[in-house]
Amino acid sequence: MRTLLKNGRIITATDDYRADVLIDGEVIAAIGNALTVTADKEIDATGLLVMPGGVDPHVHLDMPFMGTFSSDNYETGTRAALFGGTTTVIDFVLQKQGNSLKAALDEWNSRANGTAVGDYSFHMAVTDFNDNTKGEIQGIIEKEGITSFKTFMAYKGALMIDDRQMVGLMQEVKKQGGLINVHATNGDMIDYLVARHKAEGKLSPLYHYLSQPEVTEAEASARFADMAHYTGCPGYIVHLTCEGALNAVRQATRRNQKVFVETCIQYLLLDASLYEKDFEGAKWVMSPPLRQPKDQATLWAGINQGLVNVVATDHCPFKWEQKLMGQHDFSKIPNGHPAIENRMELLFSEGVNKGKITLNKYVEVASTNAAKIFGMFPRKGTIAVGSDADIILFDPQEKHTLSASTHHMNVDYSAYEGWEVTGKVKTVLLRGQVAIDNNQCHVEKGYGKFIKRNKVEGKI
Ligand code: URP
Ligand code: ZN
Ligand code: ZN
Repeated sequence: MRTLLKNGRIITATDDYRADVLIDGEVIAAIGNALTVTADKEIDATGLLVMPGGVDPHVHLDMPFMGTFSSDNYETGTRAALFGGTTTVIDFVLQKQGNSLKAALDEWNSRANGTAVGDYSFHMAVTDFNDNTKGEIQGIIEKEGITSFKTFMAYKGALMIDDRQMVGLMQEVKKQGGLINVHATNGDMIDYLVARHKAEGKLSPLYHYLSQPEVTEAEASARFADMAHYTGCPGYIVHLTCEGALNAVRQATRRNQKVFVETCIQYLLLDASLYEKDFEGAKWVMSPPLRQPKDQATLWAGINQGLVNVVATDHCPFKWEQKLMGQHDFSKIPNGHPAIENRMELLFSEGVNKGKITLNKYVEVASTNAAKIFGMFPRKGTIAVGSDADIILFDPQEKHTLSASTHHMNVDYSAYEGWEVTGKVKTVLLRGQVAIDNNQCHVEKGYGKFIKRNKVEGKI
């Protein structure tokens, strides 16, 4: 099957030009001006931006967490991602303390295999680093193609590891050619503040926010950067939210250390005033919490300074009845919010359309950098001969309104209800197949492939 995309404006992380794209099977076969080739199907992309499919390296699908499961499974979550222009996601396998990494991987494979609509990969979350775990790292990288290891410096008693485990893990991951991802907040301080607020009868969602002040993230980010520097292990901070934490990364650059940074769309667009809405604030209870307008400004600047490399979602949706688990105690509200479908359009509308970032930067932080950092480039994250034909056709002018009544995520509220957005994903190709067109999904459950990743090069 050959498909010809005609008359589009191709945008990559570095280029902006007009050309036709020939797709043969699952990959891009040729790019050129007015290509004269035969194809089984032609798509006219006049007036549209032709961009690489989005890569969202931070999602939680069907994840057991805080006494429940995130409400999107691999089918609903990856399909919603496709509707929003994201063709590849990376989820997190969570090791159970006392169990092996392989046992956790088997469990996650059983949920994702044959279910995903879009392409996916996994990070391996290490919650119990010991000699047995250490012995598994090489195989996870080389046999399973999972090259990134997630650590939690918070969620004490459930997922958190201590610094002794962190340093040991870093040494092994460095030796085997992988990378460490981190949820960098100070779990002990947060634990103390949560307990103190509860003892004082302060139980509303606002106290979720007040239990995780900026210092908890700034301190842990600096500590993580120091440990990564000491061990020489490549490090990536997930969902970085604030000025203090970004300053810790900036400080690390002074010794010529590169710590990769991901922020998420919500930290660029939303702020902590949402926690003043009584229990409705539970919709945005996530960790770390939303911050202040000054932090949003720091993050946008950080993107342009090259300090913030990726804009992800940390998509971790819970239905309203699940959020109600914490109606009388903020510490029982399942943490997370839905965004997998909204990221690409929101980032375009608020970032490119409002002049905060260029189109090339948009592609870089929404797709290319994640593919590079996590060992999928140039298969994913760009438009080039030989790359997977994961392509979005995007109308930069079309206006529409985000709403739970029209979204495809399996969650009964939208964190962005009523947001007016300029720019719409019109058509999405995933490995050469038209996956989304005319507001319809044209690929089935099971079409999504697990993407094995390469060892990390440590460069972007
Ligand atoms: O609130 C969040 N972020 N939920 C998902 C788990 C995590 O910390 O990423
Ligand atoms: Zn986290
Ligand atoms: Zn997360």
